[in-house]
Amino acid sequence: MKRILVATEKPFASVAVEGIKKIVEGSNNKFILLEKYTDKAELLEAVADVNAIIIRSDKITEEVISAAKKLEIVVRAGAGYNNVDLKASSDNRIVVMNTPGQNSNAVAELALSMMVFAARGFFNGKPGSELKGKKLGIHAFGHVGKIVAKIAKGFGMEVYAFDPFIPADIISEEGAIPCKSVEDLYASCQYISLHIPANEKTKDSINFDLLSKMPKGGTLINTARKEVIHEADMIKLMTKRADFKYVSDIAPVDTDSFTQFEGRYYFSPKKMGAQTLEANVNAGLAAANQIVKYFATGDETFKVN
Ligand code: 3PG
Repeated sequence: MKRILVATEKPFASVAVEGIKKIVEGSNNKFILLEKYTDKAELLEAVADVNAIIIRSDKITEEVISAAKKLEIVVRAGAGYNNVDLKASSDNRIVVMNTPGQNSNAVAELALSMMVFAARGFFNGKPGSELKGKKLGIHAFGHVGKIVAKIAKGFGMEVYAFDPFIPADIISEEGAIPCKSVEDLYASCQYISLHIPANEKTKDSINFDLLSKMPKGGTLINTARKEVIHEADMIKLMTKRADFKYVSDIAPVDTDSFTQFEGRYYFSPKKMGAQTLEANVNAGLAAANQIVKYFATGDETFKVN
């Protein structure tokens, strides 16, 4: 019998938790739950004797890993795994997986709703504008980017995309216009929706040079990660360009510096992209199934380290 912990500072919907419990107990393993913890010490204590952990944006650091002596597998119920120390995991022979695609629809719907919110002046009662006929650039064309393209076309937007890892013909097949370079994407589109992962290459990559290429009324929608934005450059750009708007599901580090741009920015108080009942069930159950399968058969599909 393996001990499987769900450790979520931001909890899943209760239906998802029930579903995970059923999968874990149905395979004769022990289900353990740590939700809404406020102190790292609670996590360190909870991981002490578990064999597997299901997390969301919870940080699995070297410290957590050394406190989890029996840990064999961590599954990030979601896409981005920059919250897990992959090196420390590999050094300790711990398998790390994610659940790609399982919460993508929720994130894509939020990206489009943030676009509408910005276009309508954050619902300030004054005349805004419509998305129809406007150009949208999708930066990274993975699971989320592809759904954003589909929904945006429903709005009547002209959809462009750039992804260094996805060939132009695949982008065209999905109904978007491929751009030759990231600079080309930003120069062509009034709206940009960001879907790049956070890693050493992308950190601070959304900088002044790139953002300043955006046409008048430029609006950046970030449902990805705050780390990819060069924050000082974003502040510089918004100071110089009174037409520019920034909407993010992830608040920057220096939120206070943005108060000078009233009416041109919005940051969710808590990351909401994947916070739907459906996404919680899809990602949570997928994570539980992947762990059970790994213990039963050694299946390492979705391993990221
Ligand atoms: C992801 O990477 O899957 C999303 O950012 C969701 O993160 P969350 O599970 O912390 O809401």
